[in-house]
Amino acid sequence: MKNPIPRSIWTVEEPERLVEIIDQRWLPHKRVVNQLATSHHCYRAILDMEVRGAPLIGTTAAFGMYFALLECKNAGLGFEEFAAKASHLRSSRPTAVNLMWAVDEMLKFIQPNFNNGDVLNATWQKAHQLMEEDATLCRRIGEHGVALIEEVFKQNGGKTVNILTHCNAGSLACTEWGTATSPIYQAHLKGIPVHVWVDETRPRNQGANLTAWELNEAGVPHSLIVDNAGGHLMQHGQVDLVFVGADRVTRNGDAANKIGTYLKALAANDNNVPFYVCLPSTTIDWELNDGIAQIEIEERSQDEVRYIQGKVDNEVKSVLICPEGTSAFNLGFDVTPARLITGIITERGITNATEQGMVSQFPEKQAL
Ligand code: MRU
Repeated sequence: MKNPIPRSIWTVEEPERLVEIIDQRWLPHKRVVNQLATSHHCYRAILDMEVRGAPLIGTTAAFGMYFALLECKNAGLGFEEFAAKASHLRSSRPTAVNLMWAVDEMLKFIQPNFNNGDVLNATWQKAHQLMEEDATLCRRIGEHGVALIEEVFKQNGGKTVNILTHCNAGSLACTEWGTATSPIYQAHLKGIPVHVWVDETRPRNQGANLTAWELNEAGVPHSLIVDNAGGHLMQHGQVDLVFVGADRVTRNGDAANKIGTYLKALAANDNNVPFYVCLPSTTIDWELNDGIAQIEIEERSQDEVRYIQGKVDNEVKSVLICPEGTSAFNLGFDVTPARLITGIITERGITNATEQGMVSQFPEKQAL
């Protein structure tokens, strides 16, 4: 099966090594491609959300580590200065653990090879390896998750399967396929009729801007809904499944995802709608066991709440939606407790959102 959406990140080799990304701040109205050529470009791209979504943040940081090494080698700097650049990259956003995971993977690879003559080429290859692995993990999430859609399709007598999703846990948030969207794309490609309820996902509207764009490109039927509509649709039997992504999942199965995910899980629980969290293992923080107490939640600019961006007279503009003097409070994520999650879908299969379930899927993490 082929990923239905073009990649959101790729590299260029000549005349110099570069990373190119789709600047997601302008979708769906404009397709802008930005070039990243320094570790600071990668830091800014993550901080300013040119790239976003936990796995893509990780991949961008992996290439940021290559540029950091290149800068150190060109300036004759040692490992300590390099490690400081790694810390800078790590500080670009706090919640998605894929960022820390990718920086650590690259550090582990580079440290013993720092003085090797071929370290730059090897590091460039290593970042590619992490990017390709992400594509594989996401494809596998879809291969497991599609069975749930098939089951509903059979049970409901061959009617369209209605799936609700929040934010953008799609191909744009990863290298390919997405996490929550991967089972949806794979069902669609297999000819199972699916329809997606797309939460607009205030304040930045990743659902309206990005998920709707992706589903449209892939030809998957979908309807945009306001963030407050999901509960009503669930009460009226119009949602068969909820699939969401995650930014950090603890070893006991608590899941941080875009703010508002928790409310969808509460409504799903009240209406017996299965609620699945889809993630590659790179999103699991095995060191934490209480998501509500331990996961750092990013606070972002008030202006993301006070303004809304859209297209007016063929131009992308921001408009103020509250009185000039009104202040806002803008947390990027919330934590859905494991007890509200029907199952966790990873590249290894579907498991319970419990420590036992998580460790049974990843036995190598038992001893941590
Ligand atoms: O603030 P964002 O856009 O980076 O938040 C993204 C999300 O919350 C996604 O649902 C999550 O990263 C999963 S990505 C496959």
